[in-house]
Amino acid sequence: MLQVDNIHSYYGDSHVLQGVSVNVKKGSLSVLLGRNGMGKTTTIRSIIGFTPPRQGKIRFQGNEIQKLPSYRVAQLGIGLVPQGRGVFPNLTVKENLTIAARNSSRRGWTLDRIYELFPRLKERASSMGGNLSGGEQQMLTIGRALMTNPDLLLLDEPSEGLSPLMVQEVENIISALKQEGLSMLMVEQNISMALHVADWVYVMCKGEVVFDGSPDDLKRNDAVKHKYLGMSS
Ligand SMILES: Nc1ncnc2c1ncn2[C@@H]1O[C@H](COP(=O)(O)OP(=O)(O)O)[C@@H](O)[C@H]1O
Ligand SMILES: [Mg+2]
Repeated sequence: MLQVDNIHSYYGDSHVLQGVSVNVKKGSLSVLLGRNGMGKTTTIRSIIGFTPPRQGKIRFQGNEIQKLPSYRVAQLGIGLVPQGRGVFPNLTVKENLTIAARNSSRRGWTLDRIYELFPRLKERASSMGGNLSGGEQQMLTIGRALMTNPDLLLLDEPSEGLSPLMVQEVENIISALKQEGLSMLMVEQNISMALHVADWVYVMCKGEVVFDGSPDDLKRNDAVKHKYLGMSS
């Protein structure tokens, strides 16, 4: 589905991604872990075309996309739940969702299906985006990305700043999307949540992938957990 192959990405002269390779198989969830500032968001930005790589290739469903502008990448079927959310505060929940709607027979997300997945958003349909709680805003951001009918969803720290209860809710949503067969690449700081849902795990340090394996491989690897994730064993 997605193959990120040895990409190098920069901010100006700053060489941030130094040969990153990451894959997402169809219908599976890959997770990127790592401390702050290691290049996780830059990897997401490189895929969606905000910070295109200067070297390396990104293939999505057989197309090379590393040189495409982000609107084309989105049209090809990649949706983004950005870090820090970004709902439209002066639009209602319903308006936030419908503005993202894209005609597509492929997967067919509709307002009704979004409300089925997020009953809370249905209750809040007429509320302004800016008046939602952090958890509700995260639901709305995920719902909005789904309304574009993506084949691959990129999620950048969806649990950031949420209460434990809402983190559990986000985990449930992600599990439900997996059941639907959606392919996903998720960045997370909440390691235990990430390992519950991941099919494959990448750990990044200083712009490089320093570990990849199954969630069980990582759970058994005390050295990686300690060195790169700051976990005591
Ligand atoms: N817009 C930017 N301009 C310059 N440097 C940036 C910018 N965004 C991020 N960086 C730097 O790139 C590195 C990787 O950042 P980022 O990908 O956001 O890390 P992560 O998501 O893993 O916390 C950091 O050193 C950060 O300071
Ligand atoms: Mg980040």
